This record gives sequence, structure tokens and C-alpha cells, in this order.
Amino acid sequence: MVIELERPVVFRDLVPEIPSTTYATFGLYKYPAKFIPQVIAYALRTFAEPGMSVFDPFGGYGTVGVVARLYGNDYELWDLNPLLSHLHPIAVMNPIEIDLPELLRRLKGYDLLFQPDWSNMGYWYPEMFSPMLQKAWGFYHSLNDCDLKRVLLIPLLKTTRYFSLNDDKRQKLSQSPLSRMRITKLQERDWEEVFYDKILTGVEHIIRGLNEYQGLTPAPVNATVRAGVDTFTTELSHDHDILLTSPPYLQAQEYIRSCKMDLFWLGYPESQIKILGKTEFPYREVPRIPIHSNIYNECLKEISEPHMIRMFEQYFCGVLGSLSRLQEHITGRLLLFVGPATVRNIPIPIDRIFIEHLETLGWNHKATLIDTIVSRSMFFYDANPATGSNDKRMSTEHLVVLSRR
Ligand SMILES: C[S@@+](CC[C@H](N)C(=O)[O-])C[C@H]1O[C@@H](n2cnc3c(N)ncnc32)[C@H](O)[C@@H]1O
Repeated sequence: MVIELERPVVFRDLVPEIPSTTYATFGLYKYPAKFIPQVIAYALRTFAEPGMSVFDPFGGYGTVGVVARLYGNDYELWDLNPLLSHLHPIAVMNPIEIDLPELLRRLKGYDLLFQPDWSNMGYWYPEMFSPMLQKAWGFYHSLNDCDLKRVLLIPLLKTTRYFSLNDDKRQKLSQSPLSRMRITKLQERDWEEVFYDKILTGVEHIIRGLNEYQGLTPAPVNATVRAGVDTFTTELSHDHDILLTSPPYLQAQEYIRSCKMDLFWLGYPESQIKILGKTEFPYREVPRIPIHSNIYNECLKEISEPHMIRMFEQYFCGVLGSLSRLQEHITGRLLLFVGPATVRNIPIPIDRIFIEHLETLGWNHKATLIDTIVSRSMFFYDANPATGSNDKRMSTEHLVVLSRR
């Protein structure tokens, strides 16, 4: 039954009005496992009317909100990651004019250093870079909530990462021979000039993106953004027409961990970042709820390692526990964007498990649109540490469409 409703699609081709996944403000920040904007555009164009409200309980970078404005939809975004409250206002702001030489003068001339609450900072940065980074962040934190602060943030985050020993190509924060070599070469150059050049070029890039976004004619809509919240325990205060989300992955993703460098510089203390990391699905401890799915039970029988069983249960009880509660406030459609996964090479059809469970709560499965996403930025374990083999890669992404019965 589920299989009969599956159809192949290419979302990018279906939405030619968005010319690329990084157009406008969609790609200003490389948030892990970000939605491609065409998926949301297609979903809203096809399943929503202007004026309807859309809710994303796992908002990430906030792509649902950025696209919702283009279709005249009110929206509400939640995410555990506090970055959402910093990044989303940038992605939807009006373009501004910036006097770049003046910005440079102010940045260079600022002298109050910002010290992140980060015990391990010395491991990530050569000592010689620290005063420059701390000065730039001191300047950032001295600004009141204003447009300049917004357009500066992403270039500052990116450049601060570039000056760290972290290898950005890896899933977790880690040093590598390549990243160490990059830093050694940087130290041999006029690195202060490189730093300020990157900031200014970055600011120009942001302004260009903001102008492109305005060219897509976003509408004034009502928006609610709640960052730093746990979807498992947070309540919705009112109903929405549509829930459109891409939940966290079953495995192979640690959002807080991969963003923690940015969170430190933004001023989040180490103790808070630790707690956030432990609240993330599937690492979050959750009470077990009944999962109404035969496929779920069959998959569970095949997994033998106790810690994998625990992760599997925590994932579905966490994500489906949240969705089961939140769906009570959704009047029209659930649109879930998920990919099939594997646990120790056992295929886990997450979308079908979601469908089976949600059907028992009064939802009708209308369609599953299957796309092969090529450039969605995802991280995978290189090799499975237990088996030494490569787990199967997620090669397709499924948009599950459910309607209220
Ligand atoms: C696949 S990503 C969503 C990406 C988003 N669609 C975008 O376009 O950027 C899943 C998100 O779930 C969030 N998440 C994980 N556990 C959570 C929890 N317990 N409560 C709220 N959000 C959580 C992660 O921080 C991550 O941003």
C-alpha cells in the first residue's frame, strides 16, 4: 500500500523559480543536513494556500521560514540549537548599505577582548591568532541588536572557523593533517590581512544574498522563532495548518557538537552546550512510548547490540513521541522529509515507520515523493567502528504527505 503511493521526483526541476540551492540567503551558512529550498517551495506551492500557517519543530537553519515568506505563509520554527535565533533573522532581513572601509576601521580599532567560556580553546587556535579573534568578537558583542551585527555574524563565524585547527570537512570537530597544514601556511602569510579580507568579502556576499532574496518578493507574514527548546517537551500554543519538517537523523549526526565552536564564540557557556548536546535526538533519554508499526518491530528484532537497540528506541520514541503530541495541533497536513537509514547495515525505512504509526493517529498517507538529493550537506561515519565496514549511504530523500482523515 505504502509502496504504491511512492513516486520519483526531482524537486530542483519542479521549482525553477529558485535557481540553485545556495541562491539568495538559502546557503549563507552551511547548517548540517539543511533542507534544499526547492523541497519546501514545492510543498508549500502544492499543499498550502497563502495565509495558511506552517510549523517546523526541527527548524535548523530556518529554511522553512525563509521559503514560507515567499508563499505568503505565517510560520513557527523551533530548534534545540540556539543558532536558529541568530541565523534566521539574517536570512530574512532587508538588505542594507554598508560602508566597508568604515567597518574595517572600527573592527581594527576595537580593543576590548571577548573571552569565550571554553576550557579547550587553546587546542583549537594557535596562540598568535587569539587576540585578533577576541578583538573581532569583542566588537561584535559590543554592537546592539542591529543590522550591522547581523550582516557581520556569518562572515565572522566562517572566518573564525577558517582560523581554527578544525577540519571543516569532517563530521565532528577534529584536527587533521590537512587542517594543520592550512594553519601552518596561514601563519606564514600576512594572516591579519587574510582575516579582515575574508570578513569584508563575506559581508559583501551576505548583502548580495539579501538583495537576491528581496528579488524573490517575500511577503510580510507573522513569524515565531523559538531556539534552544527541546521539541520533546515544548508545547504549541495554537494550531497550525501544516507541519513541514525534516527530523534529525537516526544516526550519524550531532548538530550541537558540529556547531559548538560557533556557539562558544556567540557567548554560550560550556555547561549549557553540554546540556544541549545531551538533549539532542537520538541521544536524549526519553520515556518509551508505543510505536504502532510492524516495520519498527521487525527492524528492532534484527538489531542485536544493546546500545544500538537503545539508540533505535530513543530515536523513534523521541521523534515520533514529539510528532504524536504535536500533530494534535495540526489541522491540515503533515509533510515529513526523511531519508531511509541503516543500522549496522540493516535497512531502516524511517518514512514507512512514521507512516504506519501516524496512520493509527488519524492520518491518511497520500503520497511519498522520492528524490535523489545530490548536494544536501550531510555527514556520515566513514567506516563503522564496530564492523569496520562502510554502512550503506542514504541515497534518496522522501517527502511523505499525510492528510487528516
Ligand atoms: C535535519 S535537521 C533540520 C534542518 C532544517 N530542516 C534546515 O533546513 O536547516 C534536524 C534538526 O533537529 C534538531 N534537533 C535535534 N534534537 C532536537 C530536540 N530534542 N529538540 C529540538 N530540536 C532538535 C537539530 O538541532 C537539527 O537542527
